[in-house]
Amino acid sequence: MEFHSLKVALVKNLTKDSVQITFDIPEELKPEFQFSSGQYITLEINGERRDYSLCSSPLDSEWSIGVRAVKGGNISKYLTQELKTGDVLSVSTPNGRFGIPSKPNEKRTLLAFAAGSGITPILSIIRYTLETEEWVNFYLFFSNKTPEKVMFMEELKALQKLYPNNFHLHLFYTQFQMEDWLFEGRLDEHKFELILNQLVDINEVDEAMVCGPSEMIKVISNEIFNAGIPKKHIHFELFTPEFTPLDILPEEMDAPDDVNVTVELEGETHELVWNREKNLIDAMLDADIDAPYSCKGGICSSCMCKLEEGEVHLGDNYVLTDSDREEGIILACISRPKTPTIKINFDAI
Ligand code: FES
Repeated sequence: MEFHSLKVALVKNLTKDSVQITFDIPEELKPEFQFSSGQYITLEINGERRDYSLCSSPLDSEWSIGVRAVKGGNISKYLTQELKTGDVLSVSTPNGRFGIPSKPNEKRTLLAFAAGSGITPILSIIRYTLETEEWVNFYLFFSNKTPEKVMFMEELKALQKLYPNNFHLHLFYTQFQMEDWLFEGRLDEHKFELILNQLVDINEVDEAMVCGPSEMIKVISNEIFNAGIPKKHIHFELFTPEFTPLDILPEEMDAPDDVNVTVELEGETHELVWNREKNLIDAMLDADIDAPYSCKGGICSSCMCKLEEGEVHLGDNYVLTDSDREEGIILACISRPKTPTIKINFDAI
């Protein structure tokens, strides 16, 4: 994960409280900034890091993010109210595993559920898929408080016009009256059932995506699974723009106070002492090792690495899949030591 100083090419207002920020990527950095739809970049502002999903398509040769101001969020407030064209920000190369495999030659049906600013990575996936898959049926179920709050409304309507046979946009409002009550209220179990009954045939669905707050992810992913879509075809991204790292691990852990850990990172081997009071990212930063991280809360996957020897306590997270766990993949930011010696490899990811 490498940071570069990038010039802001454009700040465009999307709604009263959200903007689209486009970066100017110098020609020589474009290979490093190549991304897959659904990935995010990290901004470092005043020593704090925040992740923002790219909303552009990898085919557009454009790097844009969507940012909504959140209550008490100084960084989102700065980005939505003060940032202007020509300013320079410290931006990481793209990261993240949210997304679906591209299948340009298949006729397939895709479902996406998004709430609020959770539309950002989904928009990138929609754009890319519509551009590359002639026979796709892409259903988007997008929930907001009111029509004025909808980020990228213009862009979504334009896509609907451009791809009337492939893109099926359904907007839901929680604080706005609609002619058809089906489109009023939150995306929850009840709404999911109605959607299956009236808008889409789940038997035709190949991949499903969910992006929004944790409660919605839990409920909708579960419903999709219960409706018969295998786990490996359900993709989700927890979307919390101003996430504050949680104290994830229990205090009464069974672990030695200090353990010796060997870390492989970018071709170098580091030996350090890891104290149980700290997560591995903080222990590495204390030892002046340039550890890859962003959210420090088990959300973004920047700190993913492989446990090659020993054991760790791992906090709850939405990132790791069952097969990751089987392979010994962990998240360094929510790991605490459990055995006296541990070997970690960041390069094995
Ligand atoms: S830093 Fe985000 S998951 Fe670890």
